[in-house]
Amino acid sequence: MGILRIALLVSLALRLGSVQAAGHEPDYSIAGLSGSSHKPNFIFIMTDDQDLHLNSLDYMPKLQRYLSDEGTKFKKHFCTIAVCCPSRVSLLTGRLAHNTNVTDVNPPYGGYPKFMAEGFNDRHLPVWLQEAGYNTYYTGKFLNAHSTSNYNDPFPKGWNGTDFLLDPSTYSHWNSTFQRNRNSPVTSNGYSTDIVSQRSLAFLDAARQSERPFFVGIAPIAPHAKSIYMENVSIPYFTNPIPAERHQDLFLNAQVPRHESFNPGNPSGASWIYKLRQLNVSEVDYADGFYRSRIQSLQAVDDLVEAVILKLKQKDLLRNTFIFFTADNGYHIGQHRMVPGKGCPYEEDVNIPMIVRGPGVPRGESVDFVTSHTDIAPTLFDLAGIPLRPDFDGKPMPLTKDALGRLATSPRREHLNVEYWGTNLQEGLIARDASTGSALGYGNNTYKALRVIGEGYNLFYSVWCTNEHELYEMTSDSYQMKNLFRTSESELLGYNMTKVISRLDALLLLLKKCKGAQCTSPWAFLHPGGDVATLRQALNPKYDAFYAAQPSIAFAACEDGYFPEFEGPQQGYAYRTNGDWIDWS
Ligand SMILES: *[C@@H]1O[C@H](CO)[C@@H](O)[C@H](O)[C@H]1NC(C)=O
Ligand SMILES: *[C@@H]1O[C@H](CO)[C@@H](O)[C@H](O)[C@H]1NC(C)=O
Ligand SMILES: *[C@@H]1O[C@H](CO)[C@@H](O)[C@H](O)[C@H]1NC(C)=O
Ligand SMILES: *[C@@H]1O[C@H](CO)[C@@H](O)[C@H](O)[C@H]1NC(C)=O
Ligand SMILES: *[C@@H]1O[C@H](CO)[C@@H](O)[C@H](O)[C@H]1NC(C)=O
Ligand SMILES: *[C@@H]1O[C@H](CO)[C@@H](O)[C@H](O)[C@H]1NC(C)=O
Ligand SMILES: *[C@@H]1O[C@H](CO)[C@@H](O)[C@H](O)[C@H]1NC(C)=O
Repeated sequence: MGILRIALLVSLALRLGSVQAAGHEPDYSIAGLSGSSHKPNFIFIMTDDQDLHLNSLDYMPKLQRYLSDEGTKFKKHFCTIAVCCPSRVSLLTGRLAHNTNVTDVNPPYGGYPKFMAEGFNDRHLPVWLQEAGYNTYYTGKFLNAHSTSNYNDPFPKGWNGTDFLLDPSTYSHWNSTFQRNRNSPVTSNGYSTDIVSQRSLAFLDAARQSERPFFVGIAPIAPHAKSIYMENVSIPYFTNPIPAERHQDLFLNAQVPRHESFNPGNPSGASWIYKLRQLNVSEVDYADGFYRSRIQSLQAVDDLVEAVILKLKQKDLLRNTFIFFTADNGYHIGQHRMVPGKGCPYEEDVNIPMIVRGPGVPRGESVDFVTSHTDIAPTLFDLAGIPLRPDFDGKPMPLTKDALGRLATSPRREHLNVEYWGTNLQEGLIARDASTGSALGYGNNTYKALRVIGEGYNLFYSVWCTNEHELYEMTSDSYQMKNLFRTSESELLGYNMTKVISRLDALLLLLKKCKGAQCTSPWAFLHPGGDVATLRQALNPKYDAFYAAQPSIAFAACEDGYFPEFEGPQQGYAYRTNGDWIDWS
């Protein structure tokens, strides 16, 4: 029996005592006391394609009141792949996409069938939580290509109750098909997000009837674009998301923020992005209208958040429940001249909302150390007292005051790596293929990217399958407009940028195929002697020759899936304390 458990029992005794002494306020200060067991409950709300950088959260007052003001915002939270299905699979497994090989939204490289084919039905979050004594529920969109034809082939494991939104009507916003437990799919008349809200409240009622702690996953479709399928082509096209009727007249003057990267006069980015022409006046108008539809559609999510919190309050569950709010990936509209979409390594697509409210979580605070979707499964494990799995590519996020306090002595990693394979699908009526009518797709969107955020630096580095490179210094250039790659004049912390790049390249070479601890402590694998834990330390001139000798990342081709044989060198060196180097392992 651990110390916490003893403390709980002591505190429980005190509480019982205080109940007898009428009028005395019981001590609720320790997490776990008030729930049905000492393990906390989890509510996990995940929207689809919601941005942080286009200010969508500013339009959600209930979210601010019930979550931001009562919890902590994780300002540097990232997805590790900026597209729905691969990102959701990373979240559910705690693995980077190169360790799930679910890299796309549809077969052969992704979607629900690929998730099943990779064997994750037996080893993902709900299965593990159930084994640890949780009741688990889910409503809304699960994975892409989870449809009326494959929902039972096989059924997803690990859930006590489900009510899934199914393709092909996942993105209809109205009258979508839902599929409950083992039942047949049914068309549910009504507004999709409102239905998801009602179903999640019903699950909360059901969850409460058990002595086991619960996990409730809530995945509304907003603010994802509406997709329109045509009989003659397999790829749909996308139009504005549809708000609930009660919200369709809101924010009529709202516009995409006109940041420096919005439809700039000069090309920016890399690969297909660098070749885009500037959007014209009517396209910019369209982008603004698309933006308004997104924030209108998020109002029903705002209502959902309030309804869930009020339900928890009514059931007296708030003090033993952690509530997470996030999105599967971010979104861009007009940045670097792009039409609406996602799938890029730029901040709008990867740095996403993450707000946590719960017992011991500081109220009204925000933190800015790096966290990612691969940290979420480890975080839930940690809170539930389940031993972490060695195949997790992330680490628990410090949530409580105590855990945050420990950061002073054991700092977290300062990097984040992002990956992508294949085509970037464009959204909105301004991005249709003239010959087929389906959404336009740009190939050559395969890349590896890296963010490194530490004291005195805030960097973005990428290598595309076209072998273009980008380097942005994000403190002075937060909109990623000045590519510093191989600009001999630039320097960082007094070091020539060429030397900085040699470190970033070696770090990314390891991270692009890392597994487990390599992904969270990569410097320890480059410097097994233990002298280096940060970019700053790696910049020590005594390592110049070592980093100059590392193989550089280079692609042999742009592939649509994960084929390491086309992704250049796979092996780099580790520094030995005697000054020479060997292959890292
Ligand atoms: C949820 O499922 C688990 C695993 O099958 C089971 O042990 C538990 O009793 C179920 N909970 C409820 C409320 O049925
Ligand atoms: C949803 O279905 C109802 C009932 O069939 C119908 O009246 C309504 O027009 C549909 N709504 C949409 C947006 O298709
Ligand atoms: C903008 O470009 C589109 C696509 O080429 C064209 O259809 C539209 O007329 C243009 N609008 C203006 C105002 O130039
Ligand atoms: C598919 O159908 C649409 C609508 O009828 C038409 O505009 C388009 O040209 C067709 N595409 C192909 C590839 O046949
Ligand atoms: C992809 O990049 C390669 C190499 O730069 C180029 O030759 C090819 O035309 C590009 N393909 C597309 C579809 O843009
Ligand atoms: C930085 O290093 C590069 C490559 O060695 C060199 O060409 C450049 O002149 C150096 N820049 C400065 C400011 O020393
Ligand atoms: C990833 O999946 C694809 C499609 O099944 C397969 O062809 C490829 O070999 C896999 N890659 C790896 C590294 O396993």
